[in-house]
Amino acid sequence: MSHRMMVLLVVGAALLLAGPLSGQEGMGPRGKGKGPGGGGQGGGGQGAAVQGGAGRAGMGQGGMRQGGMGQRGMGQGGMGRGGDAAMQADRDLFHELLTHRAEIRRTVKPIDGGVETLTESDNPAVAAAIRKHVGSMKKRVEGGSPIHLRDPLFAEVFRHAEKIQFAYEKTKQGVRVVETSDDPYVAKLIQAHAEVVSLFLKNGFDEVHKNHAVPAKP
Ligand code: HEM
Repeated sequence: MSHRMMVLLVVGAALLLAGPLSGQEGMGPRGKGKGPGGGGQGGGGQGAAVQGGAGRAGMGQGGMRQGGMGQRGMGQGGMGRGGDAAMQADRDLFHELLTHRAEIRRTVKPIDGGVETLTESDNPAVAAAIRKHVGSMKKRVEGGSPIHLRDPLFAEVFRHAEKIQFAYEKTKQGVRVVETSDDPYVAKLIQAHAEVVSLFLKNGFDEVHKNHAVPAKP
């Protein structure tokens, strides 16, 4: 009898301890996910969105599951339901560009500190869409309002956005972009991103669904 009581007591105590612990595990990643999301939505919290963008908090705790949650939370700031006001317009534009990718040609020239790119189309509507996309991406880089954070390379570009100089000029059929940084690592990020834009053109939506590696630090 007393042995049975002991067993009941031990089981009861174990249940009490297990309850709050598993609750904390559940809350942790969710709480983190929300943080960067809020930053992404508020203009004033832009720094937070960029810094939280990599889901470092989630990843830092090690587990795959927590890393995944961190990324989902971050996604809500950068691309998810909340998004920012320009998000849907930007997405529509990606779609248009990707749909017309066969009509777009592009060259990427690595230069000191970054790239010079020329992206053009004979179709005036597509040329206009390219210019519009570049204009709004420049604003995102300069305003620290990131997009496509699910992809580690994009997250890393936006984390270093304040070190990027982004200039462009209209050409007859599109746009010439000069994107550079004084920081050699950021220059590598810019070059890697430019190659990914070219891959978007080559492979379309399949490439957009992929994650792209962050280059090694020099
Ligand atoms: C066919 C499709 C696309 C074209 C032609 C295109 C074109 C460009 C061009 C010309 C630039 C300026 C920088 C450079 O030339 O390397 C740029 C920047 C950018 N694009 Fe796109 N893009 C396309 C698709 C996308 C997609 C699908 C996304 C995101 C989901 C995206 C996100 C960005 C971002 C964030 C930047 C600014 C970051 C940076 O330049 O470092 N683009 N894009």
